[in-house]
Amino acid sequence: MILALETSCDDTCAAVVAPGGEIRSNVVASQGLLHERYGGVVPEIASRRHLELIDAVTSDALERAGVTLDEVERVAVTRGPGLIGALLVGVSSAKALAAARGLPLTPVDHLHGHVVASTLEPEPVEPPYVCLVASGGHTFLARVDEPSTYAVLGQTLDDAAGEAFDKGARLLGLGYPGGPAIDRLSAEGDAEAFAFPRSLPARGDGGGADRLDFSFSGLKTSLLYRVRELGEREVERRRADLAASYQRAIVDALSARAEQALEREGVERFAIGGGVAANSELRERMRSLCAARGVRLWTPELALCTDNAAMIAAAARFLPALPFPDYLALDATARREPEVTAAA
Ligand code: KG4
Ligand code: ZN
Repeated sequence: MILALETSCDDTCAAVVAPGGEIRSNVVASQGLLHERYGGVVPEIASRRHLELIDAVTSDALERAGVTLDEVERVAVTRGPGLIGALLVGVSSAKALAAARGLPLTPVDHLHGHVVASTLEPEPVEPPYVCLVASGGHTFLARVDEPSTYAVLGQTLDDAAGEAFDKGARLLGLGYPGGPAIDRLSAEGDAEAFAFPRSLPARGDGGGADRLDFSFSGLKTSLLYRVRELGEREVERRRADLAASYQRAIVDALSARAEQALEREGVERFAIGGGVAANSELRERMRSLCAARGVRLWTPELALCTDNAAMIAAAARFLPALPFPDYLALDATARREPEVTAAA
């Protein structure tokens, strides 16, 4: 049994997963309401709240799984990337739990967790596959040939797709988080009403011309100008059209890159993850895109798309564990670790 902890952003998460990938429990204590009034996550508030919640969330995960600490064979934890103060709560807690029992510990790259979330039961995806991860913090395409690692095919050069949804929603006066609000309102609007840019940068940061990168900051600026131009009353009247057109631009950009990845990589399996994977238009688009190419699509349940500890345990299954006491000096890392990510 693997007990995993994840505290990289504003969700306090613990999960118990069997070595075969069966999820025994997957507990998430969301801090969403705590940060809502600020219009985004406040790092210091997030770390303090993690500290208050982590023990209860861990006990809850064990209880729901029907296992005791005696049955836990390994502890896994998100090491980074994320908010450093938030990560430290999970890392310290995991180290303490593991050390108290003399258990081995596996540090996990948060993004690796997103990439392998679909390898969990009941319908695990088998490599080789390509995965699109789009959340509030990250947007990238990865190829998985072997689940212990992944190759980044392209990533956003500025804002994440979820961030584009959130910032767009803010400009339209729709509150936070903006993705679900834009998704709902778009159903009533005309997606062709406004022309927004679909930026598909050809070159990444030194990665060469064949990288499948994204950029969403120009889109957000374009909405800002459009909102100013229209004025308050027109924005009010055409809010659904603006939302639908804006969402269409994001989905077009994500799916265009996904399609290129499928074409180039020649795989027969595709998975999506991250909070934006909840978007109804994106899901629909990916469904038809994959169906047209004879590619099988994995759209894991939302609890496995958004931040959770089951995906961290999923990744840990394929990684070595540090024996006690080798992990006592282990540190959290706010930035992406180059050595845990194989470059494309
Ligand atoms: O994965 P996630 O829960 O947290 C991060 O790790 O960032 O993703 C949250 C993001 C937010 O930006 C939110 O607006 C977006 O996912 N999101 C959506 C939808 N539901 C959540 N975006 C578009 N459509 C949705 N239905
Ligand atoms: Zn995440």
